[in-house]
Amino acid sequence: MSTDAPPEATPATPFRRLGLVGTGAMGRGIAQLAAQAGLEVSLHDARTGAVDEARDFIAGVWSRGVAKGRLSEDDLARYRARLHEAAELADLAGCDVVVEAIVENLEAKQDLFARLEAVLGDDAVLATNTSSLSVTTIASACRVPQRVIGFHFFNPVPLMKIVEVIPGLRTSTDVVARIEALGQAMGHFTARATDTPGFLVNHAGRAFGTEALRILGESVADHATIDRILVDQGGFRMGPFTLLDLTGLDVSHAVMESIYHQYYEEARFRPSPLTRSRLAAGLLGRKSGEGFYRYEEGKAVVED
Ligand code: NAI
Repeated sequence: MSTDAPPEATPATPFRRLGLVGTGAMGRGIAQLAAQAGLEVSLHDARTGAVDEARDFIAGVWSRGVAKGRLSEDDLARYRARLHEAAELADLAGCDVVVEAIVENLEAKQDLFARLEAVLGDDAVLATNTSSLSVTTIASACRVPQRVIGFHFFNPVPLMKIVEVIPGLRTSTDVVARIEALGQAMGHFTARATDTPGFLVNHAGRAFGTEALRILGESVADHATIDRILVDQGGFRMGPFTLLDLTGLDVSHAVMESIYHQYYEEARFRPSPLTRSRLAAGLLGRKSGEGFYRYEEGKAVVED
C-alpha cells in the first residue's frame, strides 16, 4: 500500500487554509492529506524543530512517490509549497479551520482552543483529533462552542481511509457539513459518531485490545501468538499488540484510562496494569524502540 498517492477525483473542500497544531505521528499525516487536497497548511508545534522534522518527513513520503512514479516532480513542488511554518499560534490567524493533534489531555486541548479563539475569525472551525475526550467538554472552554467538532483520524492517516466526525452537543450543522466535506476531499470515508467515550471505533476496538491484554496477563499465550491468531483467524489487519506499539503506550494508555473513567469505571473498559507498568518503564512501542516488540531500524525483531 502506498502513503504517497494523492486522493483521486476528490470533492472540493470548503476551506482554503488549514492550521495544524501538534506535528507528531497524527498531525503529519493530516497535514500531508490536506496539502494533497489543495489546502494551504500552516504547521505549529510547541517543540522547537518539530515543524521542520514534520515537513522533512512529509516531503520524504512525497519524494518516494516520485521515485516510484506515482507523483510528478510538479506535484512534489506544488505540495511542498503548501506547507508553511507557524512559529507562533498568532501566525494561524488567517486559517479558516484548525485541526489539533496535541497531547491527549483535556486541559491542554481546552487551553489551546481558548488561545486559538483569540486569534481566529469567528467563522473559523476548531477540530480536535482526540481519541477519547469529550468534544462537548473541550468546546465548553470556548467562546463559540458551535465551531468545535471532533475529527478523528487513525494511524497511519494516509492509509487508514476513514475519519470519525463527532459533533459536540452545541456544534452547528454547518460546521458538521463543512468538516465532512473536508474529510471527503482528503480522500477519506467520513463516519458520523455521537460524542460518547471512545466514539465509535475506540468503543468497539478497545474491547479487543483490553481483552488481549487480559489474555496476556493470565499467561494464556504470549503477545506474538495472540497477534498472529487475530490476524490469521480473526481477519484483523494488525494484531492488538502491534497496534499498541504503533500507537504508542503514552497515547494508548491515556485513551484507555479516559474511556474507563468516562464510563464511570465500567469493568469492561478497565485498563491493564501491563500497560501502566510498561509506560512507567518507557517501553512505549515503535517510538521508543521497544514495546511489546523490539524494533531495529523501524522493524520488529522476531525473537526465537
Ligand atoms: P505525538 O506525541 O506523536 O505528537 C504530539 C505532538 O504535539 C508533539 O509533536 C508535541 O510536541 C506537540 N504538542 C504537545 N502539546 C502541545 C501544545 N500544547 N501545543 C502545541 N504542540 C503540542 O502524538 P500523536 O500520536 O500524534 O497523537 C496526537 C493526538 O492524536 C492525541 O490526541 C491522540 O489521542 C490522537 N490520536 C492518536 C492516534 C495514534 O494512533 N497515535 C490515533 C488517533 C488519534
